Amino acid sequence: MKRPPNFLQRFHGTIAGQDRTRMFRQRPATVWLTGLSGAGKSTIAFALEEQLIALGHACYVLDGDNVRHGLASDLGFTPKDRRENIRRVAHVAQLMNDAGLIVITALISPMCEDRAMAREIIGPDKFIETFLSAPLATCASRDPKGLYAKARTGEIGSFTGVSAPYEAPIDPELRVDTGTLTSAECVAQIFGYVREKCLQTAAQRTAHSTEA
Ligand code: ADX
Repeated sequence: MKRPPNFLQRFHGTIAGQDRTRMFRQRPATVWLTGLSGAGKSTIAFALEEQLIALGHACYVLDGDNVRHGLASDLGFTPKDRRENIRRVAHVAQLMNDAGLIVITALISPMCEDRAMAREIIGPDKFIETFLSAPLATCASRDPKGLYAKARTGEIGSFTGVSAPYEAPIDPELRVDTGTLTSAECVAQIFGYVREKCLQTAAQRTAHSTEA
């Protein structure tokens, strides 16, 4: 459906990305966690957030279950609704990145095409696609929310991995084997990548503070 013209403009303040990078001492990015239910997305997202906050970094988790209580409370699990969920979360992540924060998203985000859309919205330079890879059998045996059992009996329809597809990323920035590694090991792997990409070294911090 073609939308009518909306005559919107974009307004820009005087604050540049560099100003926020200096203030927060970090380059913003979005760690986009993708994987099956039970692969460890929420556990790893919140543990990574805890570690970054403990080091004084501004970050925030956008978790699928949480977002679906508000921002996406009108959406279900059809392919169209999942895509809309991902589109909304990607836009929120982009705004948070613009504000200078490091964002960690924890959404199944099962389709390659939808994750490619998120990459475009957030910006390829800020998007860290992170595949939490665990075999379906492992996730189903963990079944932390009892949802795989319900999916098998048909009580829940269109359940990812059982009655709805999951497309594994082909070329993600990071692949973390959550099937065999401990969650601490998984967090350490992602943290290492984020440190390289986003966090300033002590030398950079000194250079910035003497510039100011
Ligand atoms: S996504 O596909 O749109 O990215 P999202 O991560 O937001 O999914 O939500 C997944 C969460 O919703 C799961 O952790 C689970 O608790 C719940 N859920 C309820 N029904 C389904 C379903 N049919 N498929 C997958 N997850 C479901």
